[in-house]
Amino acid sequence: MISPVAHIASMSPYALAQLNAPEVKRLISLSQNESPRPPSPLAIEAGAQALKAGHLYPDPDWGELRLALSGLHGIPAEGILCGNGSMELIACLVQAFADEQNAVLAPQHAYPFFRTAAQLVQARFDVAPECDGRVSVDALLAAVRPDTRIVFVANPGNPTGTRISRADLVRLREGLSGDTLLVIDEAYGEFADHLGEPMFDLVEHGDTVVLRTFSKAYGLAGMRVGWGLFPAEIAGEIRKVMNPNNISLAGQAAAKAALLDQGYMRATCQKTVRLRDGLRQRLMQAGLDVPESFTNFILIRFASPEKAHRADEALRAEGVFLRPQGGAGLADCLRATIGVAVDIDIAAGILERRAEGEKT
Ligand SMILES: Cc1ncc(COP(=O)(O)O)c(C=O)c1O
Repeated sequence: MISPVAHIASMSPYALAQLNAPEVKRLISLSQNESPRPPSPLAIEAGAQALKAGHLYPDPDWGELRLALSGLHGIPAEGILCGNGSMELIACLVQAFADEQNAVLAPQHAYPFFRTAAQLVQARFDVAPECDGRVSVDALLAAVRPDTRIVFVANPGNPTGTRISRADLVRLREGLSGDTLLVIDEAYGEFADHLGEPMFDLVEHGDTVVLRTFSKAYGLAGMRVGWGLFPAEIAGEIRKVMNPNNISLAGQAAAKAALLDQGYMRATCQKTVRLRDGLRQRLMQAGLDVPESFTNFILIRFASPEKAHRADEALRAEGVFLRPQGGAGLADCLRATIGVAVDIDIAAGILERRAEGEKT
């Protein structure tokens, strides 16, 4: 018997969405925070063209993509690293800056992959309480220990959908010591860009990283392209642990073309936000608790974990898959990604009928 190392043997695999549709039903996945729209036609064309050179390795420095990101966001190209999804960058950050001697800290209902990344390097994973699904900077600062090496916050948050203001993030950074790395994961950042609170300038101080992804607003989840702005010294360490050929030629080309088609991305966001807010209104009218969201999903809070579970079963029986949130400490919630209008309507109808049935 060939045994894995003990801490890997004791881990569960990262839990992705469970999509087992009952036979004959059309599967409606509202479970992975994917975009309801395919990528920009320009991105599809660029990806297809890139495949013609598919016998060659991709650019290990993501040169064209970095320049495009630098130009759009007004940030230095040298500080940008691209990852095979932002998940790769999260895992690399933890691998390079934490180990079994220290700890990673995140809010209580944080994106579960932060915990997985910490487990992979045997770092302790600490959590700070949230206040009604909102990150509390005071609680995070109170939870910092002398051995806290990394603090992760997603802004806006997944699965809560709530947002931390720039003033609060600056306060968090100022309350941390200079040897604690702050990682601000802005996977849903494009959905909050209109609020005008960019965080990239914090990176200049050398102790903060800001991550983004092409998986959400740009609709390129299947191409696996994430990126971030890193202080130079941190970027140097991350380079040592990342796959040196991490993003395919097609992924790089598609991401660059998608980035240059800002009109298409903004239209995706507007459409998603309209559907999101409409769904939220419908469910609230049906008596469900749905906090305001700044993302491409909503969190639906039920009266108990059992009620959330039963609603999930009823939806699945109709082929509709939302995402249970027990893994993020929210067993009384289901998260619904904003899909195409017809699918949202089907999911809303099922939840409305259940809510109505419970009243009578
Ligand atoms: C907060 C957050 N960070 C990172 C990711 C990972 O995104 P990517 O597809 O870029 O790996 C997700 C995906 O759902 C997310 O919700």
